[in-house]
Amino acid sequence: MAQQEDVFKKIVAHAKEYGFVFPSSEIYDGLSAVYDYGQNGVELKNNIKRYWWEAMTLLHENIVGIDSAIFMHPTIWKASGHVDAFNDPLIDNRDSKKRYRADVLIEDHIAKIDEKIDKEVAKARKRFGDSFDEAMFRQTNARVVELLAHREAVHTRFSEAMNANDLDGLRQIIIDEEIVDPISGTKNWTEVRQFNLMFKTEMGSTADGSMTVYLRPETAQGIFVNYLNVQKTGRMRIPFGIAQIGKAFRNEIVARQFIFRMREFEQMEMQFFVRPGSEMEWFKYWKEWRLRWHKALGLGDEKYRYHDHEKLAHYANAATDIEFQMPFGFKEVEGIHSRTDFDLSQHEKFSGKKIQYFDPELNQSYTPYVIETSIGVDRMFLSVLCSSYEEQALEGGDSRVVLHLPAALAPVKCAVMPLVRKDGLPEKAREIVDELKFDFTTHYEEKDSIGKRYRRQDAIGTPFCITVDHQTLEDNTVTLRHRDSMEQQRISIADLHSLIHSQVSLNALLRKI
Ligand code: GAP
Repeated sequence: MAQQEDVFKKIVAHAKEYGFVFPSSEIYDGLSAVYDYGQNGVELKNNIKRYWWEAMTLLHENIVGIDSAIFMHPTIWKASGHVDAFNDPLIDNRDSKKRYRADVLIEDHIAKIDEKIDKEVAKARKRFGDSFDEAMFRQTNARVVELLAHREAVHTRFSEAMNANDLDGLRQIIIDEEIVDPISGTKNWTEVRQFNLMFKTEMGSTADGSMTVYLRPETAQGIFVNYLNVQKTGRMRIPFGIAQIGKAFRNEIVARQFIFRMREFEQMEMQFFVRPGSEMEWFKYWKEWRLRWHKALGLGDEKYRYHDHEKLAHYANAATDIEFQMPFGFKEVEGIHSRTDFDLSQHEKFSGKKIQYFDPELNQSYTPYVIETSIGVDRMFLSVLCSSYEEQALEGGDSRVVLHLPAALAPVKCAVMPLVRKDGLPEKAREIVDELKFDFTTHYEEKDSIGKRYRRQDAIGTPFCITVDHQTLEDNTVTLRHRDSMEQQRISIADLHSLIHSQVSLNALLRKI
């Protein structure tokens, strides 16, 4: 675990050093849980967004996109339930004066019991060697049986309290389990209170009378309130989807793990409108399809798992997460929710406008049901970055840090390097850049030794380095170096474009889904 934490620290440092992610407002000592994307980060982020957008809108003829405003009429958030129910349960420690999410304190406590169980299992495995039967051990070892029963009891109480919004019940678990503040080490806890996660601001001058508006906590509502506009102007027939990428804002209290939990972040959401009664079939379809989208990137199939929700959001009748194995454990990257007709019905009620679909096949009108796929761009970025990072020992005691980014997502696709800065090699290299730059993000690199230049490109995940040497001037061939294998091949300049294209194009990636 400690080793994984070290790796994660190195990834965060690498992201800053190589222009991927900077802390926001850094020269003013930063702003907690807010980050900026640098010159390489923005390219990687844009490529992730393009991969998602094209997978949705190109590969599905019944999905179209929109780009709705961040500010929306405040009644939308009343209708959606966010004003009343988008809360975190918070608790303060009177000694440290620190505020915590009560649910996170309990989840961390359960994770500690799990760790104890794992430790017992690991100890026994060491003791018994090859003959160790883990299942049997878990069922029969008195200490493990006791820990498991305890874990189960806490977990059941926790789920019940969360589902019933029972704040006193959550506090009682913290008291009964003797959970201490990690800073003060005391159990001097306040009551648990609900805290709304939406940021508020004022629109209009106070002299004219101003209105409280919210920074949207999800992009989905912009889709729901445009459902009629898109359905009518696009003559869309159910089933159909509306996709959107955009910023969302949440006043997260427990902000940690770098860009995993941010106060300003970006979502890629798609609402798929279906006939009532067919929602479970479509839920299954999107659950499977979204996992295929992830796996096509080749980051490792074993790094994904589904996590079905026990506590459903106020709008859902089924929900699952796609979790990814981050250095700090399996974590949610995407949510797939069956949102019933909750949102459209609520907007119909609050706006007084009829929001229905006339189904010509059934010859009847109804409020469509919705399956939502919702993925955080930043979490996706983090999963790609973490799984691509490798510190590699090389022959001869040398080492390199390489990002094995999926080629279609890499910020820079190829770097062209003259072997020396003379003899017409820079000019020849520039000619190649001028040809490739129309299709690929291409770097020109002439400073430092060729080895150092390769290392710099490895560190940002550039799939190809092209070296121009004296032979190039004679026969128009170059050396093409592959990032992952470090293999070099002699190739004609005329063949560069098609070879690079075959490896880095989004088209090739989309075909793998
Ligand atoms: N419209 C549904 C919705 O917003 P969610 O599970 O709250 O559902 C969807 O959020 C996705 O948005 C998450 O799976 C995660 O990837 C991303 N996300 C949510 N909160 C985030 C935060 N504070 N920082 C970064 N990403 C976040």
